[in-house]
Amino acid sequence: MSYDAFHQTYPGWLSPGGGLVWHARAFRWRNRWKPFIGQLEQWLSGWQPPSTNLLLLGPSAGWCLPTSFLLGFKNIHAVDFDPLAPLIFQALHGRALRQAKVRLTWQSANIFVDLEKLLQAHPTHVVLFANLLGQHRLYCTDLYQAEAQLVQLSARLKGRHWASFHDLVSRQWPHAWHLPQPLRAGQMCQAQQLLKKWQLGGVWLDHLTSAVLPNKVARQYLVWPINAGRAHVIEAGWVSPEDI
Ligand SMILES: C[S@@+](CC[C@H](N)C(=O)[O-])C[C@H]1O[C@@H](n2cnc3c(N)ncnc32)[C@H](O)[C@@H]1O
Repeated sequence: MSYDAFHQTYPGWLSPGGGLVWHARAFRWRNRWKPFIGQLEQWLSGWQPPSTNLLLLGPSAGWCLPTSFLLGFKNIHAVDFDPLAPLIFQALHGRALRQAKVRLTWQSANIFVDLEKLLQAHPTHVVLFANLLGQHRLYCTDLYQAEAQLVQLSARLKGRHWASFHDLVSRQWPHAWHLPQPLRAGQMCQAQQLLKKWQLGGVWLDHLTSAVLPNKVARQYLVWPINAGRAHVIEAGWVSPEDI
């Protein structure tokens, strides 16, 4: 089954990387996520792109997105194929955005299919991939194709300021285990090297995102305890046109 066939079979509110199951999980574990969201907020506060227009890709309801970050923009165009996302996003961030007069618009689209159209329609917007790229493998039956599509993204974004935080690897993680502190790397760091630095062993799932960011771009690595039994290593980095 191809990516598109998969997408047609499963509506956005039932998709494997978002939808109802994701919202229920986010609601249940929102307190456990707070330290991770604090670390993400710190990283996002360092991204100072030269525009107050943001193309926000795959934000879901913004469960992990700090409102303080969203308030740094005047116009936000959010794109997600989960029809539940705008409603819950509104409940979580709407009031603060309205008070600050931030203009928020929504579009349902598949960002892998429609990226060029989205960029053309929003020529002055900077782009944030809000933790969707690491789930691309869940929507594809051909993992080589999935990885190739992820690798091609930076070329498709040529000339744009953009940033992404995404799953790099994940594994079972008992609730009682200590969570390592964030790590910064001046350039690409192989997952194996990173796990060695953190002294983490075990069997990890590769989310196929290791080549999303250009090699020479600095990045931050965070550990996100997604539920009581699993943790994801998140890679976060921002890219300027001259980095490509
Ligand atoms: C893990 S959630 C993002 C979480 C979000 N950062 C938050 O704070 O709640 C991933 C989201 O990306 C969306 N998504 C995944 N692949 C997509 C695609 N190709 N095009 C558009 N949306 C996509 C899903 O519907 C889901 O809402």
